[in-house]
Amino acid sequence: MATKTITRETVKIEKNGDGITWLYLNRPEKRNAMSPTLHREMAEAIDELATDPETLVLVVTGAGKAFCAGQDIALNFRGRETATPAENRRNRANSASWRWDKLVTFPKPTIAMVNGFCFGGAFTPLCACDYAIAADEAIFGLSEVNWGILPGGIVSWNVVQMMNYRDAIYYGTTGDTFDGKQAKQMGLVTLHYPLEQLRDETIKFAKKMMEKSPAAVRYTKEAIRAVRFMNEPQAEDYLNAKSDALKHVDKENGRQEGMRQFLDEKSYRPGLGHFKRKKKEG
Ligand code: ACO
Repeated sequence: MATKTITRETVKIEKNGDGITWLYLNRPEKRNAMSPTLHREMAEAIDELATDPETLVLVVTGAGKAFCAGQDIALNFRGRETATPAENRRNRANSASWRWDKLVTFPKPTIAMVNGFCFGGAFTPLCACDYAIAADEAIFGLSEVNWGILPGGIVSWNVVQMMNYRDAIYYGTTGDTFDGKQAKQMGLVTLHYPLEQLRDETIKFAKKMMEKSPAAVRYTKEAIRAVRFMNEPQAEDYLNAKSDALKHVDKENGRQEGMRQFLDEKSYRPGLGHFKRKKKEG
């Protein structure tokens, strides 16, 4: 199938007919720094893709040599000093919603493919995606301290969720940079590859996720995120209810199909691979 590309002012969507949708922050000349327009367009794009049947896995990445250089210091900080309270409120809502709420609740697997610079406010969408796959050569930094602010929005909260406390304090207060391999050691990214392999490896991983039951993947990622903020009795109750709900929403009836293929047909081993899906859908 031919590539479909939708280009907006600051965002590009690319589909190649294989179920993978590439959502680019598309201001390469500004290292994909996040402007008010970009925040709005990303919020709109993610909403559209959440229910798009052609999108089975979403990859968020950056055009050019950066993933994202953080908030646009000219348009989002200095520029906001002269904006109206209504404009500021709208911008803040867009900025917060796509970088966290809309990505973290995206119903299909999400991958942040970190192809280059990743600074400050970019850590929020990085952490919101289910998986982060980074180039070894990518450069990460909590650079806020270098220009006299703290990692705001929810960046400080994001980094203590993902990195250990010592690393969060160290990199937050020094602004020192680190690369994709170090990001993996800190737990900030899932996988890392040399830049020249990054796209191919991301496609390979996305295809692997498309082979799994979409309902089981969705409910599992929702459950893992939710239980982090629960105590044990709450988690047990929630997980029981969530498991019951999964039986009802899973159009492929994976539980029954898995048992049938393992116990009756003896055609696979669930410890080593997944059951044969009859149909693939988002
Ligand atoms: N905000 C606004 N403009 C930016 C930003 C940004 N965050 N990052 C880069 N740009 C612009 C530059 O001003 C420059 O614009 P110009 O061509 O009109 O002069 C263009 O992007 C290219 O930037 P260079 O610095 O020339 O590119 P280089 O590849 O050498 O360096 C780097 C890239 C390291 C990302 C550098 O631009 C930089 O340090 N940017 C700021 C990173 C940062 O601290 N971000 C804010 C984090 S805090 C937060 O997000 C709340």
